[in-house]
Amino acid sequence: MSGQDSKKEIINWYPGHMTKARRMMQEDIRLIDLVIELTDARAPLSSRNPDIDELGQNKARILLLNKADLADEEANRQWMAFFRGQGIYALEINAKTGAGIREIQPLVQQACREKIERDRKRGIVNRPVRAMVAGIPNVGKSTFINAFAGKACTRTGNKPGVTRGKQWIRLNRSVELLDTPGILWPKFQDRDVGLRLAFIGSINDEILEKRELACKLLEFLLRYYPRDLQKRYGTDLPEGENAPARMLEEIAAARKCFLKEGEPDYDRAASLLIEDFRSGRLGRITLELPETNRKIQNGDRAE
Ligand code: G4P
Repeated sequence: MSGQDSKKEIINWYPGHMTKARRMMQEDIRLIDLVIELTDARAPLSSRNPDIDELGQNKARILLLNKADLADEEANRQWMAFFRGQGIYALEINAKTGAGIREIQPLVQQACREKIERDRKRGIVNRPVRAMVAGIPNVGKSTFINAFAGKACTRTGNKPGVTRGKQWIRLNRSVELLDTPGILWPKFQDRDVGLRLAFIGSINDEILEKRELACKLLEFLLRYYPRDLQKRYGTDLPEGENAPARMLEEIAAARKCFLKEGEPDYDRAASLLIEDFRSGRLGRITLELPETNRKIQNGDRAE
């Protein structure tokens, strides 16, 4: 696939089930007071869908940078400062271990202060805040709902005035959570954003040839995280022209990925690299920073 073709393909990517996701999201959002939006801490902007601003109009909002355990710690700090600087209620969490989740409750109270105050003035006390979790695929929505709900999983059925069939999880006296997350669709006009979404597994691998995706990831890693690459694969790091392709060959050799004929099995090496990145085995890596002038590096080769 030529660079031009693959670019076109990425931009046109919008499968039919995303239309359904949008409709569901529009329906559910009417039922709630608070949107708990999840992003992937490794690419906190690319993994947001900007349409949430319009969809979530007039709703309280919290932004959770999930998978913070997989992202660069210094970058996490920069992102938190960035979002909080914009007046956004944000937290970094790890939905898998539950780290950071205890801090959500006080944030809910802050984010919903106006609603609680409005209720109080109208003589309504103790009406729980109704919340929904939303985010693009693979950011950890289901994992988060399980962790957040914990043992407090009292599921309540239909209620008067609430769309039939919706399940709510009563978290405590003050919060009820819709038990199915709102699925946002990945959105990208920009090829780099599309690539980041593919690296973190939020869009299908099929969107780009695996080898091409791996080379794009290697281009980034050779520049910004060379030390992690070297540590993981124990190889020399190629420089100059075609360095990413030659690095893939090094990985194939280091991991003994060969075809029957003794040629390097680039596809297997590519899958291995992408899996190592996604699972954190390569180290804690962040793909984008709030400032355009990125400063994070863990080797000598970054500019
Ligand atoms: P989704 O509903 O938004 O689509 O995401 P889901 O919860 O299914 O999570 C997607 C993958 O991300 C899962 O891995 C899940 O375990 C992992 N995950 C979620 N939150 C975190 C986190 O904070 N840190 C880390 N390191 N991983 C997280 P999987 O490989 O698909 O499943 P599994 O093998 O872990 O069960």
